Amino acid sequence: MEQYAIKGGSPLVGEIEIGGAKNAALAILAAAIMTDETVTIENMPDVRDTNVLLRAIESVGAVVNRVDRHTVQINGSTINDVVIEDDYIKKIRASYYLLGALLGKYKKAQVVLPGGCNIGSRPIDLHIKGFKALGADVRIAHGLIVAEAERLVGNHIYLDMVSVGATINIIMAAVMAEGQTIIENAAKEPHVVDLANFLNSMGANIKGAGTDVIRIRGVSKLHKTEYSVIPDQIEAGTFMMAAAATKGDVTIKNVIPKHLESISAKLLEIGCEIEESDDAVRVVASKRLNHTHVKTLPYPGFPTDMQPQIAVTLALSEGTSIVTESIFENRFKYVDELTRMGASIKVEGNTAIIDGVPKYTGAHVSAPDLRAGAALVIAGLAADGFSVVDDIVYIERGYEDFDAKLRRLGADIEKVDGEKALQKFKLKVG
Ligand code: EPZ
Repeated sequence: MEQYAIKGGSPLVGEIEIGGAKNAALAILAAAIMTDETVTIENMPDVRDTNVLLRAIESVGAVVNRVDRHTVQINGSTINDVVIEDDYIKKIRASYYLLGALLGKYKKAQVVLPGGCNIGSRPIDLHIKGFKALGADVRIAHGLIVAEAERLVGNHIYLDMVSVGATINIIMAAVMAEGQTIIENAAKEPHVVDLANFLNSMGANIKGAGTDVIRIRGVSKLHKTEYSVIPDQIEAGTFMMAAAATKGDVTIKNVIPKHLESISAKLLEIGCEIEESDDAVRVVASKRLNHTHVKTLPYPGFPTDMQPQIAVTLALSEGTSIVTESIFENRFKYVDELTRMGASIKVEGNTAIIDGVPKYTGAHVSAPDLRAGAALVIAGLAADGFSVVDDIVYIERGYEDFDAKLRRLGADIEKVDGEKALQKFKLKVG
């Protein structure tokens, strides 16, 4: 089992390039099968979740051609099956995007109930409500979600909660439905907008993505396109927090600064300097940072996917901070691990009360999920001495070359496999 070995205590300094957004890429890959022509997708992150989805796309008969590490061509004309049930696909949440894509194109789909990071109960009632509103019959049978329709007809759909996944799935199911679909209380996340832009470049007619009312006029078919995935807001935010927590100076390139506003605002508030240019953001932390309050909210609020990373930063800041998680109920599982590094955090319901400590001390910890795993790596980089982070398979779901990128910023971090390699790392970094 691979682990990250880290020797912490030095500031991260330098420049780093951000890759394509995992969560946009997952939606776009699924939507790419909705035409019979060849779609070219650039800036595709090479991470575990996108690779699993590509495998699922191949498993139903589509042709996947990896042009280079970050460019993939997909041709959905050879799809001969609408059933996705292999065990490996359960591992990713975004498997359910194939429901919307297959239902939208073939009017039928059967996809295994999704798994994904264990960050709380993750129902799919809103997705099902949306499909049903468009005329599909949806049921669960033998562990599969089965959706089928004679015809899909546009409808007015109000989402009771803001859901990224339901918004994306309903867009895909509606894009070739008859007439107009209106989604109200839609998610406004950058990856929803990216998916809509991608589908529009294939001939879809989607208006209002990025606002809470999305209007989709069904078209009869979609065509080929070439499209580049937006930069990853959360990867960028993670490096911003790594700069802050290690009191570093990092320029994060290939970003859309607008997508990072809620993160930049919090870092400014706690005492970082932030410099923005057209496609880069620099974070400088030259002194001990201050406390603040953070509440996770749908975009443009502070992202739940950045909650563990900012908590790790605040746990080193002066005074008492309060972090409230309002999207997923089980996203504080890293707190026990962080406590072993010296943090002082008390969780009450969906709130963490954080008393800042001046330093962490290195420890052996386990990544409980993707973002919490990245946060523990940040803690290890800020800590005095050695840390080991187990279960990095979670981190690899969403961060491409995480350790290599951190090394470029001067971090002492290496992927190791077992005690021998760990000892070798310790000897090397001293
Ligand atoms: C997406 O998950 C992301 N995943 C998550 O990223 C992210 O944390 C989340 O959006 C919130 O931004 C992908 O894009 C693949 P939701 P998703 O539907 O779509 C409730 C990461 O680390 N809800 O917006 O599953 C739900 O329980 C991951 O990259 C219902 O009640 O999230 C939650 O409280 C983890 N019924 C809230 O809505 C439903 O049918 C928001 O969830 C659907 C959701």
